[in-house]
Amino acid sequence: MEMLAFYYFLAFFLAFFLLSKQLFPNRKNLPPSGPLSFPIIGHLYLLKKPLHHNLARVAAQYGPIVLLNFGSRRVLHVSSPSAAEECFTTNDIVFANRPNLLVGKYLGFDSTILSLASYGQHWRNLRRLTTLEIFSSTRLQMFSKIRTNEVRSLLRRLVVAENSSKTVEMKSTFFELTLNNMMMMIAGKRYYGDNGGDLDKARQFQELVEEIFGAAGASNLVDFLPLLWWVGFNGLEKKLLRLQRKRDQFMQELIEEHRLARTQSKDDKSLIDVLLSLQENDPKYYTDEIIIGIIQVLLNAGTDTTAGTMEWAMSLLLNHPEVLKKAQVEIDTIVGQDRLLNESDVANLPYLHCIINETLRLYPAGPLLIPHESSEECIVGGFTIPRGTMLLVNLWAIHKDPKLWEEPTKFRPERMEGIGGVRDGYKLMPFGSGRRSCPGEGLALRVVGLTLGSLIQCFDWERIDEELVDMTEGAGLTLPKAKPLEAKCKPRPAMLSFLSQL
Ligand code: HEM
Repeated sequence: MEMLAFYYFLAFFLAFFLLSKQLFPNRKNLPPSGPLSFPIIGHLYLLKKPLHHNLARVAAQYGPIVLLNFGSRRVLHVSSPSAAEECFTTNDIVFANRPNLLVGKYLGFDSTILSLASYGQHWRNLRRLTTLEIFSSTRLQMFSKIRTNEVRSLLRRLVVAENSSKTVEMKSTFFELTLNNMMMMIAGKRYYGDNGGDLDKARQFQELVEEIFGAAGASNLVDFLPLLWWVGFNGLEKKLLRLQRKRDQFMQELIEEHRLARTQSKDDKSLIDVLLSLQENDPKYYTDEIIIGIIQVLLNAGTDTTAGTMEWAMSLLLNHPEVLKKAQVEIDTIVGQDRLLNESDVANLPYLHCIINETLRLYPAGPLLIPHESSEECIVGGFTIPRGTMLLVNLWAIHKDPKLWEEPTKFRPERMEGIGGVRDGYKLMPFGSGRRSCPGEGLALRVVGLTLGSLIQCFDWERIDEELVDMTEGAGLTLPKAKPLEAKCKPRPAMLSFLSQL
């Protein structure tokens, strides 16, 4: 009997909910609300992975501007260049905020981490500081030797792998290269390969990185249904807190090491040294917490994205040997075979640029960007967007829109000819646009260009068997491959003498 009453109540509640939507439609000219929204959960059932695929399907049916409800959060999904342009020009300041999400809160202290900080004076300071001290052309130039050394060390390891006739696992190879590069810039230390003997610290760091990347990918229903907090979902919080403590301890030890070394000599070689020298002048602002936040954002935002892009690019090249051959001919013609390619050569290799652009079009590492949030009511596409709405720009869908790209799923680097840089209005923008766009673009393109160029110049590459490389996307924030790439490589005879001297 009680059960029957419950079902009656549920049916009444549902009927009332659906009817009220018919009777009181859209008073404020809100965008279309997409497929059926259930009470309490709203459209949370769309949160299946990969989310950008599901949302692209919604857009195909309901249009490029859709207002969804993910539990208690209102979410604006945008999937056309013109709507994206409105968000990042007219409404750029309004959407410059980031929503408060749980993983960010524990891994980034929210306010101290650049990618998650709310828009305001503090974010502007962090952005100015990192632009000046990390991403400026002068700094990038200063760190170019580190990138060259890391790529050369990779070439060396590949020669050894080839001698032992093993296939190369490219995912971890690229990940280790980008992490070493980043940690050399940050702390003057590398934790993979030859790390100067501190094996214990290297192992600690590797474990920490694995845990951080695992947690950052955690699907977080609590962000959309705070109610779940009270019914046992807060286990995740404990895990993140534990991880935060471990991370802080590791980073703090690193800072202390540099602080101690500075008592002997004040050398601003690494980023930690630069930040410590700023701290000496203004200890109230440049706290250790701020320094740890900056290190964290570089590791989180800069490694997986760059390594993943290189893995997709190599996978595409292995499936399209004619493109690989054309890139090799370009390098042989412009750089030659009597020296190793260096970073300044990359600007003179237009076809290599086309390959990188086309890879970023097909596999953008931020397929939905990082979520933005509106700080006040605004208009997009003629619709009213309420304050506090989370914005997801579906870059993946825009990059694959058949109205914008001929045969959009095909890998055709030639279509990128004539595009200066990595942007084409708002139809190609793998690094986002506007105030919150990626500040690491210059660094990422330098690493990707030098690494891919060197691999193509020095080795002949093949798939491990006749089968095409599996291009299925896996689950994760930065569009990982479902199956890590393995490949076979052989040093090119003309390059052997240089490789053996590395
Ligand atoms: C191929 C590599 C990369 C791609 C495709 C990429 C892409 C992106 C995208 C799409 C965003 C979000 C923009 C938005 O929300 O509007 C972003 C933000 C960001 N990226 Fe990158 N990124 C890459 C590499 C890097 C590197 C190497 C770094 C630093 C070392 C970096 C640091 C950041 C930071 C700090 C933000 C947040 C900016 C803010 O909120 O103010 N990224 N990136």
